[in-house]
Amino acid sequence: MKLKFGHNIIELTNNSNAQANVKIIFSFGANLLPQAKKHIGTFKIGKFEDLQATASITKLNDGQIILASLGELKSFDFPGLLKTLKVVAETIKNNSKITSISLVIEESLAKSLNQTVSEFTENSIFYLLNNLYYFDELKSEPKKLNLKLINIISASSQKTAIENALHMANGVFLIRDMAHGPSNIITPSHLAKTAKNLEHIGKNVKVHVLNAKDAKKLNMNTFLAVAKGADSEPKFIKMEYSGAAKNKKPIVLIGKGITFDSGGISLKAGLKMDAMKYDMCGAATVIGIFKTIANLELPLNLVCLVPTCENMPSGHALKPGDVIKTMSGKTVEIANTDAEGRLILCDALHYAKKYKPELVIDIATLTGACITALGSAASGLYSNDDILAAALTKSGLNTNDKVWRMPLFKEYHDMLKGTVADLSNIGSWSGEAGSATAACFLEQFTDYKWAHLDVAGTAMSGTGRPFYMLMNFLRNIK
Ligand code: BES
Ligand code: ZN
Ligand code: ZN
Repeated sequence: MKLKFGHNIIELTNNSNAQANVKIIFSFGANLLPQAKKHIGTFKIGKFEDLQATASITKLNDGQIILASLGELKSFDFPGLLKTLKVVAETIKNNSKITSISLVIEESLAKSLNQTVSEFTENSIFYLLNNLYYFDELKSEPKKLNLKLINIISASSQKTAIENALHMANGVFLIRDMAHGPSNIITPSHLAKTAKNLEHIGKNVKVHVLNAKDAKKLNMNTFLAVAKGADSEPKFIKMEYSGAAKNKKPIVLIGKGITFDSGGISLKAGLKMDAMKYDMCGAATVIGIFKTIANLELPLNLVCLVPTCENMPSGHALKPGDVIKTMSGKTVEIANTDAEGRLILCDALHYAKKYKPELVIDIATLTGACITALGSAASGLYSNDDILAAALTKSGLNTNDKVWRMPLFKEYHDMLKGTVADLSNIGSWSGEAGSATAACFLEQFTDYKWAHLDVAGTAMSGTGRPFYMLMNFLRNIK
């Protein structure tokens, strides 16, 4: 099995006799675990330097071992495993001598993490690969990893775990590539093409792309209002995967796809405006999740909706004070054209009603206020359903891709009253409760079980979040 990313091709095998020049063995400090003792063979352990989650080799040579310390047994947890895998990946990246590794799967660790051996194996491979990832595609001389082979040493065959890890890696690499890609390359049309391409996965994948004319017919006026300042064509992407019986209600995911957010006529300040290429991370996440779910052939029906366009100032741009009739019929007064995410999402949320969904989750780099509240530690979670909120919170903890629930109080809804229209697109000019009022704006367009993830603080640098949390949620859904 092979994984391609950037200019790299890494082969994955599951063969206890494979020749690799470095072995990676989990340990607690210098204490070896049972599998490790069996597999050290003639390999040599380098000088052990740091007990805290550190690959302990000073000079790596053929036939050496990276002792991947997990810290102390009594405080071992999943974030600890992730931290260790990150250090191992950094060691591999920084050491050009490492061309092949064998990773020894320590079955006993699965139990301590409350995971099956297969889950533990998949996670170890997936997070190792994810930490090897880097985005170098646009440099004239992209660097190349010397690592060509990852061999898994396990007591039982872990072929499925390896396959699953590769599907997960391909999914999140797609997200991270699109996130890092600049807005002159990652255009709405590019997102649409990428989505359309996923039809190759199989017959149970259907992708339709609506253009401005189609969206106009459907009265997606708020979405089109944001798009009209830009020269690029807006796209409304619909992706449908059927992995379960037709009568099983679908799960709908909606991703904010602003490929560049200049603020529009309410122009943003220049400092760090380049980061606004990341304003399509919600869309990227949804497309990457769709790809992964279809590849894993999960037994569920999934619909992904992506409204995507640029938010630009121009002579034909939306102006502050303009009133737009949303697809739902509610009218919105645009106080600030920089609060555009909710405008493209409200039509998508309304459109989702036609699927009679089991539940709907939208993912959006929606507000700077959410970064103020939670930083990058957690995505803001808003939901009208306690069970859904609890399940997402649990998946966040399972994967260390945390979310934190925030309120949808009536007070915040009251702040959204319009002067001449039904609604204003901002809660206040002072920005108070900016993340919550944005969420309440979205809530107005839902009539189903719904959760909103404000990922401005967690996704903006191309981390792939909240892919990890949502995949855990979708794979554990009953
Ligand atoms: N895309 C931004 C949110 C954002 C800001 C994400 C900073 C990441 C970093 C969004 O469209 C926006 O501009 N929101 C405004 C809303 C305000 C005008 C009510 C914001 O957060 O300032
Ligand atoms: Zn904005
Ligand atoms: Zn935005």
